[in-house]
Amino acid sequence: MQKSKGITLYAMMIAFIGSIGGLLFGYNTGVIAGTLIIFSELFQLTLAQKANVVSILILGALIGAIGAGFISDRMGRKKTVMMSAVIYLIGGTLLTFSHSVTTLVIGRFVTGLGVGFGSLIVPLYLSEIAPTKYRGALVSTNQLMITSGFLLSFILNAVLDLENMWRWLFIVSCSFAFVQFIGMFFLPESPNWLIGQNKIDQARTILKDVRGDSDVEEVIQSVKKADEATKSSLSLTVKKTPLCVGGFLKQGLLGALVVGVGISMIQQLTGINAIFYYAPTIFREVGFITHSTAMLATISLGLINVLATIFAMWLIDIKGRRPLLLTGLSGMFIGLVSLAFCFLFGKGDLSWLSLISALFYVFFFAISLGPITWVIISEIFPLAVRGRVMSICIFSNWAMNYLVSLTFLPITKSFGGGVAFLMFALITAISFFFVYYRVPETRGKSLEEIANFWKK
Ligand code: BGC
Repeated sequence: MQKSKGITLYAMMIAFIGSIGGLLFGYNTGVIAGTLIIFSELFQLTLAQKANVVSILILGALIGAIGAGFISDRMGRKKTVMMSAVIYLIGGTLLTFSHSVTTLVIGRFVTGLGVGFGSLIVPLYLSEIAPTKYRGALVSTNQLMITSGFLLSFILNAVLDLENMWRWLFIVSCSFAFVQFIGMFFLPESPNWLIGQNKIDQARTILKDVRGDSDVEEVIQSVKKADEATKSSLSLTVKKTPLCVGGFLKQGLLGALVVGVGISMIQQLTGINAIFYYAPTIFREVGFITHSTAMLATISLGLINVLATIFAMWLIDIKGRRPLLLTGLSGMFIGLVSLAFCFLFGKGDLSWLSLISALFYVFFFAISLGPITWVIISEIFPLAVRGRVMSICIFSNWAMNYLVSLTFLPITKSFGGGVAFLMFALITAISFFFVYYRVPETRGKSLEEIANFWKK
């Protein structure tokens, strides 16, 4: 294991500015819940246009994730973070000045590109900057910011006079993006990426300043050695084609890809966004009749999500990824079965039990799949292809997000909420075994040690 002094103040500042991308991700995906009603009235949206305004962001995210993977491997992590901030700025500006359905849809699409870029590059950048010992916590800053962005959007939706002030919601988003863009000028490039580009002197200085590593030369040598091994096995490919399947298999990376894609899909297929995107609707159905009690219930979900993420950040480098994942999935299962029970037998009078079940579920999601998905996919791939392979994982994450958000309401309508939540519970149970048998423990291992693990 690499020795490091501990978390430096500089590393914390990097985590904070870098993870503003997470804040923008959470905020922009959450903000639509309140604004959709306003847009519908203002622009006389048809049902199809409404669905388009909501889902076009996810389409943008799918494309953004793929683009960011290639760009970050070629041009570096820092420039890609800056690009994501610029994309958010453009999207936010379009939305702020929207006067037609067309600008609205384009604004949401561009914002989605930003979300895709950000969801790839933020964990990747943080993971390569972090000292091994604190990597779990530092990368989880991303999830802390995602959840804070969500919560902020829920609160603003509830307290602002949206009819007259909706444009301010997007000005807020532009301000965050602007702060991140400026802040990034003062942050370093990822040392690992620099080593991969043979810019050793620059990497050495950054490793000393940021990671506080006492064994900088050892770190450089191990990153270099691991990187050269991957490059030689993928040599034909890294330059000519994006990825070579043969080389990939030779490196034993199919196992890593199965874990990365698997956990990315599980994060969505276990139903988190059925709860978050449709919380007010769900709560009304189970008995929180007024709009404000349903909104309050939704805000409490956002709050528990943030608090539990902080708890997970404390535990992730002490207990490890696997115990948290397995505990989390077990708790989520119980929460989902209990929610299903409320829908199947409640008939509108089990509102408190349903709220407690949803809070229980969100708590266990937030100590497990929430942060750890991003941590794992930023850890398990070798440097030379890390961005590109991560983009496959993130693409599958957004694709499953799209699938769930598209099908949840129709399934609920045809078969009832009880069946929908039982389905999520079944997927959660299967996921438990997937994690148990396939996901390795990465706590305390350097990124190079983890990449070597797959070759065995
Ligand atoms: C997921 C999002 C989810 C959020 C909730 C993120 O890690 O990717 O889809 O809405 O967590 O906190």
